[in-house]
Amino acid sequence: MTIKKVCVIGSGTMGGGIAQVSAQAGYETTMVDIKQEFVDRGVKMIKASLAKFVEKEKIKQEEMNGTLARLRTSTDIRDAARDADYAIEAVFERAEVKLPIFAQLEESCPKETILASNTSGIPISLLASATRRPEKVIGTHFMNPVPLMKGVEIVKSLLTSEDTLKVSLGFVQSLGKETVVVKDSPGFVTNRIVTLVMNEAAKLLEEDLASIEDIDKIERLSHNWPMGPFELADLVGIDVVVDLLEGIYQQTGWERYKPAPLLKRMVEIGYTGRKAGKGFYQLFGQK
Ligand SMILES: NC(=O)c1ccc[n+]([C@@H]2O[C@H](COP(=O)([O-])OP(=O)(O)OC[C@H]3O[C@@H](n4cnc5c(N)ncnc54)[C@H](O)[C@@H]3O)[C@@H](O)[C@H]2O)c1
Repeated sequence: MTIKKVCVIGSGTMGGGIAQVSAQAGYETTMVDIKQEFVDRGVKMIKASLAKFVEKEKIKQEEMNGTLARLRTSTDIRDAARDADYAIEAVFERAEVKLPIFAQLEESCPKETILASNTSGIPISLLASATRRPEKVIGTHFMNPVPLMKGVEIVKSLLTSEDTLKVSLGFVQSLGKETVVVKDSPGFVTNRIVTLVMNEAAKLLEEDLASIEDIDKIERLSHNWPMGPFELADLVGIDVVVDLLEGIYQQTGWERYKPAPLLKRMVEIGYTGRKAGKGFYQLFGQK
């Protein structure tokens, strides 16, 4: 199967990044969202990211121009997905938002189209149940920020076919990424680990054990992490972290994944991290 056209649904942090690397790798890419202002914001983010690569001489101006020429936007998923060879969903981490999209993709895409999800932990088999092609549904779990992060978890459900896996591995690797295949289970591998770290950090702060600067600093220095748990939560989005924890908790009942009350309060007051311009550092930082 040759992939030429890619459709990315959702133009937020992840959808924008995936559309960028897809167009950069030479695929005709259409990025979809529910409102024009959202796709415009996505394109603005992509332009800023590419301009930074040009400025740092990582890519040439012509590559930026070519990437943007291959990128289209739409607010009509049915129209955008009509001739897609590969579709990747990257909308909110809620099954009730993702399921209707898979049903729409089933109706709109050609029969051969692979339907991928960038979900961080919702079962791929559940998303596949909204389609009549569960063997063509797979998880492609890109990391944030997509243009910089090398690793992608490829999630194979019990029903994903070997052919879908093979094509997906080839496609994701053609974007310059490295892949690891994991089984379909709550939180997969990456989020089983990293959500616990951010949840525990929030509990440390609740207990007033140390300042957020010091918690981040000691983790950076002790484990050679590029950023500490609060810096990471602000980058990922605290609402996303809560959704992830709740998703794993609801599916497994494991108490350790119950979101720390502080994380939930942060979301309730709109301090969801970098994307909102306010997160842990604005509320608890010394500066
Ligand atoms: N943020 C991260 O660090 C990260 C990392 C890995 C995976 N993920 C996963 O990627 C997915 C997207 O996360 P994000 O951080 O980009 O979220 P986001 O909130 O930045 O963006 C989601 C986008 O989806 C759009 N959307 C919602 N409903 C839609 C619909 N019906 N049709 C089209 N667009 C719709 C929204 O308008 C929004 O622009 C989630 O499943 C999340 O768990 C996120």
